[in-house]
Amino acid sequence: MDISNGSVLITGGAGGFGGATARRLAKLGAKVVLADVADDRGNALASEIGNGATYVRTDIMDEASIAQAVETAVALAPLRAAIVAHGGPPPPGKGGRTIDREGNRVGMAHFNHFLSVFLSSAYCVSSIAAEAMAKNEPLASNQRGVIINTASIAGFEGQPGQVPYGAAKGGIIAMALNLARDLAPMGIRSMAIAPGTFLTFAYDRMGTEKAQETFGPLVLNPKRMGDPDEYAMLAQQVVENDFLNGTTIRVDGGQRF
Ligand SMILES: NC(=O)c1ccc[n+]([C@@H]2O[C@H](COP(=O)([O-])OP(=O)(O)OC[C@H]3O[C@@H](n4cnc5c(N)ncnc54)[C@H](O)[C@@H]3O)[C@@H](O)[C@H]2O)c1
Repeated sequence: MDISNGSVLITGGAGGFGGATARRLAKLGAKVVLADVADDRGNALASEIGNGATYVRTDIMDEASIAQAVETAVALAPLRAAIVAHGGPPPPGKGGRTIDREGNRVGMAHFNHFLSVFLSSAYCVSSIAAEAMAKNEPLASNQRGVIINTASIAGFEGQPGQVPYGAAKGGIIAMALNLARDLAPMGIRSMAIAPGTFLTFAYDRMGTEKAQETFGPLVLNPKRMGDPDEYAMLAQQVVENDFLNGTTIRVDGGQRF
């Protein structure tokens, strides 16, 4: 799909995956809207990118805030792509294995938090973006837009202690085809990307060196963490290639547990 005259909404647009994808899609001519809560990083990135790139403070826990971000993108140009790549606030309560050593279970507030941050919010962004895209004039092959959600390899192979996160990301994987089927009559595609372990801002607290030492050796080949631009390359391909639809693509250096 040609997005050169369109806009692109990116949740987590100031983040690792979101920022790298914004840089690439802006180079294709699209006006990118960075929807995030990181005001300084978001504004700095929007100025760096130029070409009408806009940062809009958006809380993915709030439906009205998401709707506002979509409206911002639509006001710039027809919304052609929505990339869902946000993190979220820290969870309440204690996480870990479903039943811990003392025999206590992970509670509902903790579990539901992950579903809200990673799954309900993704449906919210996807559905509001699709509503806007459905009003677009179609491009070649009757295409109006594309939605990319970010899953995780944890949605296929959750590790001990990851039940809430794995369940949320498994939901993203399930939604990819379901959304594609629902939105096909409008010429809107839906895909998900399942990243392995990438060095993004999510690892800031651990530190780059420690993160590479810990996670790099777990990757089959190359023996390092992913670079966010390796996610963005795939996102760009999904946007440009109209025949990619209804599935989840892993980008993980062959990592399996
Ligand atoms: N980095 C990895 O190894 C990895 C692997 C698999 C999946 N993922 C997924 O990729 C997505 C993006 O993660 P990332 O690694 O780029 O992290 P990141 O920390 O670099 O970016 C996440 C962005 O989300 C923003 N954010 C936080 N709370 C928000 C809120 N309430 N509303 C809007 N934005 C908010 C942050 O400010 C940040 O800019 C997440 O869904 C994560 O689960 C990451």
